[in-house]
Amino acid sequence: MHFPKQIEIIEVGPRDGLQNEASFVPTDEKKQLIKQLYESGFQRIETASFVHPKIVPQMADAQEITSFCNELGLDYIALTPNMKALERAIEAGVPQIAVFVGASETFNQKNIKRSIADSLEECSEMFQQAKAQHKFIRGYVSMCFSCPYEGAISYEQVKRVVEQFVKDGADEISIGDTNGQANPRIVYERFSALKRDFPQTTFVAHFHDTNGFAYANIIAALNAGIEKFDSSIAGLGGCPFSPGATGNVATEKVVELFEAMQIKTNIQQEKLKDVSAFASNLV
Ligand code: HMG
Ligand code: MG
Repeated sequence: MHFPKQIEIIEVGPRDGLQNEASFVPTDEKKQLIKQLYESGFQRIETASFVHPKIVPQMADAQEITSFCNELGLDYIALTPNMKALERAIEAGVPQIAVFVGASETFNQKNIKRSIADSLEECSEMFQQAKAQHKFIRGYVSMCFSCPYEGAISYEQVKRVVEQFVKDGADEISIGDTNGQANPRIVYERFSALKRDFPQTTFVAHFHDTNGFAYANIIAALNAGIEKFDSSIAGLGGCPFSPGATGNVATEKVVELFEAMQIKTNIQQEKLKDVSAFASNLV
């Protein structure tokens, strides 16, 4: 078993947690949530998404949210699905961007209306532009274990996207169980294979908790050597293009789990309980 002294939790609640909410969460309340998370100790928070505001109306206030994050002095991540989004993010002064491509062709088409090949080509250009602006670049690979449209996803499908992100120079790659159907065995095997094939790359585990296996999956990923985990406060979340998927793994439970194992998170657990209650009331 692998027991590092410390792991990093990247809070994705303000983006992945809220993006799927049907009624618009007022921008001021989103700001309060971000501030409370920041004060609880998170070094990096995914706070906004420069997707098409008609497609994901909940993220239409990305610019105002990012101005607020800049004032706070936060190191935050914003989602940028295409070149237009990257331009908007650069203009807003975002320090860290995240591109996202599916390992499943059907999901990628539904999510960003492009083939995987076209998405990867556009991502290469985006990486160049973002690097020229000294941005930290996260590459998300979605549906890395199975897909609601295609069923089982092979390791080769995941590897194809990861390989291109690595070539383009991603600073970290987040491996998503977008529909929350993975189990500890496939998680352990897939992350072990990724670490074997891309030993210099930093991988992050991103679990949605549809089946209640997400905490077991975190331990399986940890055992494969993963030390960075995405989670969402109060377990909020879901992807509009991943039918049946529920929230992300809940941040407060992930913190509790690691702290119980004497693995440091640098998050203030007591404070987080109040933040979780606040977040639950937003939806
Ligand atoms: P599109 O319709 O193909 O865009 O959308 P287009 O390039 O054809 O342009 C059409 C019009 O949209 C044009 O305007 C563009 O300017 C405009 P017009 O000339 O007709 O007036 N446009 C934009 N406007 C604002 N912001 C933009 C933008 N791009 C084009 N960025 C697009 C392509 C990718 C934008 C669209 O499909 C989209 O926004 N998709 C959103 C998908 C999404 O947000 N999914 C959820 C996040 S992914 C996720 O949750 C998974 C993750 O958590 C990891 C995991 O769990 O696995 C990350
Ligand atoms: Mg997600």
